[in-house]
Amino acid sequence: MALLEVHDLEVYYGVIRALKGISFEVNEGEIVTLIGANGAGKTTTMQSTVGLIPKRSGKVIFDGKDITKLPCQKIVHLGMTQVPEGRRIFGELTVYENLLMGAYSVKKKSANFKEDLNKIYELFPRLLERKNQVAGTLSGGEQQMLAMGRALMSHPKLLMLDEPSMGLSPLLVDQVFDIIKQINKDGTTILLVEQNAGKSLAISDRAYVLENGEIVLSGTGKELSESEMVKKAYLGG
Ligand SMILES: Nc1ncnc2c1ncn2[C@@H]1O[C@H](COP(=O)(O)OP(=O)(O)OP(=O)(O)O)[C@@H](O)[C@H]1O
Ligand SMILES: [Mg+2]
Repeated sequence: MALLEVHDLEVYYGVIRALKGISFEVNEGEIVTLIGANGAGKTTTMQSTVGLIPKRSGKVIFDGKDITKLPCQKIVHLGMTQVPEGRRIFGELTVYENLLMGAYSVKKKSANFKEDLNKIYELFPRLLERKNQVAGTLSGGEQQMLAMGRALMSHPKLLMLDEPSMGLSPLLVDQVFDIIKQINKDGTTILLVEQNAGKSLAISDRAYVLENGEIVLSGTGKELSESEMVKKAYLGG
């Protein structure tokens, strides 16, 4: 069953047509990736889907509801949470306080706050070690983990991640992709946006290729990683 359906989405920045009518879907339980080069429109797709950037036209259905015209706050309440590009954690707050904010972003602190917190610490042991550290002093990889942990505290049905591997060392990139797989296995549907096509296609059920604001190719992760076009343009082959 489709958890997210995006139909003919068009977004403009002034006179620039950044998204030229794109359509895609994410089924419950899937990991779906949008791959594309710099400026292809990946972040625009994510942010307009979650209601942070206005849509010129098109339709977005989430969990059976038409959310095309809903503001971001309402969409988050329905269970769609994004981890933006560049993470944007609260640098002055501690790791623990950041996770608390994630729980508050949806409702009053959940009755299961402690349990939720323990799950996050289990998934990211590093965050437990550093729970009282001011978040702005965490390393890049630790900040990525915190941003993901904070998003998970809101119990999203759909977790959207904008370039989670950006700027991380190869070892950490592998760790982040492993954790994404684990989060999905634990029951969260995932929409991933990535320039790292190799790793993301390897963990994706399905994927779409975005070029200049248009979807030019789609298929299973395996199909796309074997496609000549994808190999040539995105896998350095
Ligand atoms: N606020 C803005 N005002 C004007 N143009 C914008 C704005 N934000 C993005 N754009 C333009 O829209 C296009 C798509 O940008 P977007 O950020 O969605 O790309 P992206 O695929 O996420 O790229 P990257 O991989 O570099 O993050 C680009 O040409 C960009 O310059
Ligand atoms: Mg981007």
